[in-house]
Amino acid sequence: MNDILRPAMGDYSCPDEWLDRIAEGLSSPGFLHLKNALHPDFLEKLVGLLEAKEDADKLERAGVGKGASLEVRSEIRSDSIFWLEPEDSSAVTKEWLGFMNEIISFLRRALFLPLESYEGHLARYPEGGFYKPHLDQHRISPTRQVTLITYLNKDWDESNGGQLRLYTDIEKGIHGPYIDILPEYGSVVIFRSADFWHEVLPAKQPRLSLTGWFRGREDNPVLV
Ligand code: OGA
Ligand code: MN
Repeated sequence: MNDILRPAMGDYSCPDEWLDRIAEGLSSPGFLHLKNALHPDFLEKLVGLLEAKEDADKLERAGVGKGASLEVRSEIRSDSIFWLEPEDSSAVTKEWLGFMNEIISFLRRALFLPLESYEGHLARYPEGGFYKPHLDQHRISPTRQVTLITYLNKDWDESNGGQLRLYTDIEKGIHGPYIDILPEYGSVVIFRSADFWHEVLPAKQPRLSLTGWFRGREDNPVLV
């Protein structure tokens, strides 16, 4: 179903329809794709923040791995990112983190997922940018439980490339079937971080997104 708009900025409520579809999709098959899921004001502000960070040279090359083994690997991913931190003064960051907290409460209630926190970053893939097949849940620190990606690209079609290729068979992974999702403005993809291999196909134009993860507790990571 299309056109599930979240209310405007300043309204933290999330439509029941949105929440029902999240609960249903995450239960089975474990992923979902919402189109036109966010209010245009919100999207404009997120794009504005990303552009401002880019202009101020505040984007950093994204790494692969975690903790001490985190390193930039250009052959694996080519995006540059900006982490959304609670200390950040921008209203849109605060609003986004509030919104994500609301979804955490819902997922705890509706699906009994023991989620504790959210981490997310804006991302810009340059022309030709990609991200090779991977799982979002780190083997050594499996706290990421659910991935939520919001796309920020106006007028994006097949000719622009940059699809999210999501491998839908949990057992077969990258050797199994997949769906390709265009990173269209205002669309949102949500999936269980431990289960779904995915990649970003080469983008023919700069490609913008906000990617984040709902996390379980660090000290008791085997939760779902
Ligand atoms: C990621 C990722 C996919 C996308 O950042 O881990 O897989 O479509 N992003 O941007
Ligand atoms: Mn990923």
